[in-house]
Amino acid sequence: MKPGWLLLGLLVLGFTSCKKDPEDPLHKIPSVYKPTPVDPTTIFPVGKFGMPVLPSDNPFSQEGIYLGRMLFYDPILSFDSSISCGSCHKQEYAFAEPQRLSKGINGLQVGRNASSLFNLAYSRKFFWDARQNTLRELVFEPIQEHNEMAMTLPLLAKRLARTDRYIEYFDKAFGSKPNVFDMSKALEQFLLTLVSKDSRFNGFFPGKFSMLSDDEKRGALLFNGLVNFDVVTGLTTGADCFHCHGGALAQQNNPDMGGIANNGLDGNFADKGYGAITGNPADRGLFKTPSLFNIAVTGPYMHDGRFATLDEVIDHYSDNVNYLSPTISPMMAAHGNRQLKLTAEQKASLKAFLMTMTDSAFLTNPAYSNPFKK
Ligand code: HEC
Ligand code: HEC
Repeated sequence: MKPGWLLLGLLVLGFTSCKKDPEDPLHKIPSVYKPTPVDPTTIFPVGKFGMPVLPSDNPFSQEGIYLGRMLFYDPILSFDSSISCGSCHKQEYAFAEPQRLSKGINGLQVGRNASSLFNLAYSRKFFWDARQNTLRELVFEPIQEHNEMAMTLPLLAKRLARTDRYIEYFDKAFGSKPNVFDMSKALEQFLLTLVSKDSRFNGFFPGKFSMLSDDEKRGALLFNGLVNFDVVTGLTTGADCFHCHGGALAQQNNPDMGGIANNGLDGNFADKGYGAITGNPADRGLFKTPSLFNIAVTGPYMHDGRFATLDEVIDHYSDNVNYLSPTISPMMAAHGNRQLKLTAEQKASLKAFLMTMTDSAFLTNPAYSNPFKK
């Protein structure tokens, strides 16, 4: 055989073997799987919040976290490559967005307000209706929802597999070729690293209330005080927010309840929330209680974004709680059907206290920013 024929034969052989295995475009790239471990105690402020329960089969690595960060900001995760997770979850708004209801691809509307994202490692239930227990499973919902990213998993796997940065980083992080299972683990790693811990509140809670201004102190007393009407003035000395938004994370997070409650917004439930998940009438109108960290920047507020401003939220708790709501939290029912009727001054103090929870280091932390925008 002439050398030319041999070469051609080898080329044909090589070509057909490639063709036989279209799922394996990578077989020639040597594995560089040697992820750099990241110690969780460098991510979580254990002294302030304690050590969260972490997934045992998805250890943090620099490569895994970075892969998750790229995926979070990559529009190729949506069918028409128009939006990424970061389109609805924007860092400067604590990963919420200044829009009442979210819009997915083609401007289609989502029925709820985008959640803020931080300290997720300390939550056991996700979404407003607490329908998801793990971040790893959760990410498949927005990716596939027709009115969010409207993607199919086979198409996504194909797209990832032909993108150089993913060929490189799936190998580095997981020793694998791009696939949607490891994609969900990388997103889980990145989401878990979103930690908000540097607000003024984090500096003085629990003991150092002397660091507060007088106005903020009055707000703190209202926030952390039980509802109690003074017999002389008729004013309440407490507004009882702490029962549901208390503790170091400003979030009630009883693992059994997932911190879900009906805070007296409605009597009839357009959105049944947790009740639509369990089918139990006693769960209608129950929603996940959000942490109040960064609350100054996460508006509009509530699951349906019904309140545009914090003032409207405070007016709700002060003047408009629906005590006849059939599933109202026992904590609020204990107010004896009486509106708190906070004075304008009390409302302003409460708001001043809520403002101490803004963590500007979190909102600007370069480790969470869009890696494609340098
Ligand atoms: C079209 C806008 C949109 C896109 C795109 C989107 N989300 Fe969301 N996200 C929302 C909305 C709205 C909610 C609240 C939905 C609900 O509770 O039913 C939410 C909730 C969440 C939550 C729950 C937070 C909590 O505390 O319960 C997480 C986590 C999350 N999104 C992560 C992601 C990730 C990761 C992606 C990309 C794969 C993504 N989202 C893409 C709008 C969006
Ligand atoms: C019985 C529990 C409970 C009490 C008490 C309570 N809240 Fe809430 N809070 C919730 C729940 C549940 C939600 C979410 C409700 C929804 O979206 O339907 C919420 C939502 C909020 C939000 C909007 C969060 C967001 O990200 O949209 C703010 C702000 C807030 N509460 C402040 C307060 C303040 C201030 C007080 C005290 C005056 C208070 N809450 C008392 C349970 C409670």
